[in-house]
Amino acid sequence: MTLILGIDTSCDDTAASVVENGTTIHANVISSQTQFHEKYGGIVPEIAARKHIELIEYVIEDALQTADVTLPELDAIAVTNRPGLIPALLVGVASAKAIAYCHQIPLYPIHHIEGHIYANFLAHDEIPFPHLCLTVSGGHTSLIRVDPDWQYKVLGETIDDAAGEAYDKVAQYLGLGFPGGPVIDRLAHNGRICVEFPRPMKNSGDYRFSFSGLKTAVRNFVLTHKDALPAIEDIAASFQEAVADILVQKTLRAAVEQRIHAITLTGGVAANSRLREMMVGAARERNISVYYPPPVLCTDNAAMIAGVAFHHLKTRPAAALDVNASASGALG
Ligand code: KG4
Ligand code: ZN
Repeated sequence: MTLILGIDTSCDDTAASVVENGTTIHANVISSQTQFHEKYGGIVPEIAARKHIELIEYVIEDALQTADVTLPELDAIAVTNRPGLIPALLVGVASAKAIAYCHQIPLYPIHHIEGHIYANFLAHDEIPFPHLCLTVSGGHTSLIRVDPDWQYKVLGETIDDAAGEAYDKVAQYLGLGFPGGPVIDRLAHNGRICVEFPRPMKNSGDYRFSFSGLKTAVRNFVLTHKDALPAIEDIAASFQEAVADILVQKTLRAAVEQRIHAITLTGGVAANSRLREMMVGAARERNISVYYPPPVLCTDNAAMIAGVAFHHLKTRPAAALDVNASASGALG
C-alpha cells in the first residue's frame, strides 16, 4: 500500500488530500477563498498567498485526520510546484518541503495540468490510451494527446483567454459575481438562445482556441442593448452555447484527425452541464467515448496531485529539497 499526501495551492483553493495507490481517496480537503476575491472579480495573487498561509496547516491536518493517517506513515508528499501564481504556489511548496525534511519523506513536485489530466483516473477504472484530454479551467484551455506511459503532446492551447476566464469576465459584465461558471451554467438551464455570439477560431484548421473576442462580443452586446436587454438567462444560454460549440467542434475534429477514440474532460469548466451534454452527444455519433470526473474533481483539488505522484514514484527519483515553484513549465 502506498499512501501519498497531495498539496495544491496553485490558485485560490487551499487543498490537501491523502490518496492510496493512486486510486483510493481517503481525504480530499478543499478550502475555498472565493469570498475574499469576489469583490475584485478575479483572483488577487497577494490575497491568495496570505490566505494559503493562514489555512495550509489546518487543511493538511484535516486531511490527515480524515484519512486517519500520521505523517510518518506517508510514503511520499506530492505538491503542485508549477504552473500557477508564484506567491500562492510557494506556500504549498514550502509546507511540503518542511514536512518532507522533518519526517524524511520523499518529495514529488507535480505539474498542475498533469494533475487535472489524472483527475479522470480517480473517477474511472478503464480509460484507454491514447486519449485526448480537453483541459478547460480558469487559467488553461488545452487539447492534450495522452499516450501510454503518460507521454503528453499539447496539440493546441488558447492564444488569449482561457474558457473559464471568459466565463468569469462575462459573469462580471452581467453582475453575477465570481466565479462565473457555476452561476452562468445554472441560469442557462432556464434560458433560450437569443443571440448568435461569434465562435472565434472554431474553423481555424488548427487546435488552438480564442475566447477573448467572444467575451468582448458579450460585453458589447450588453452595452449596446442596455435599454432593452434580453433576460439574463437568455444571454447566459447564448454565451454558454458558443463556448461549448467551439470546445466540442475542435476537440472532436482533433480526435477524428488523430484517430483517437476516447476524450476526457477536466478542469473547472469540465463541470459545465452543456459542455458535457454536447460533447457526449457529438462523440457518440462518431463512436468516441467521453469521460469526465465529478465536479469536485474537475475544479482544483489535491487528490489529483497525490494520484499522479503514485506513477512518478515508480519512474523517477524524489526531488531535492531545493526544488522551487515556477509560474510556467513543461507538462510531465
Ligand atoms: O480548475 P479550476 O478550479 O481552477 C483553475 O485551475 O483555473 O477552474 C476554475 C474555473 C473558473 O473560471 C470557473 O468559473 C470555472 O472553472 N467553472 C465553470 C463551472 N464550474 C467552474 N465554468 C463553467 N461551468 C461550470 N459549471
Ligand atoms: Zn486548475
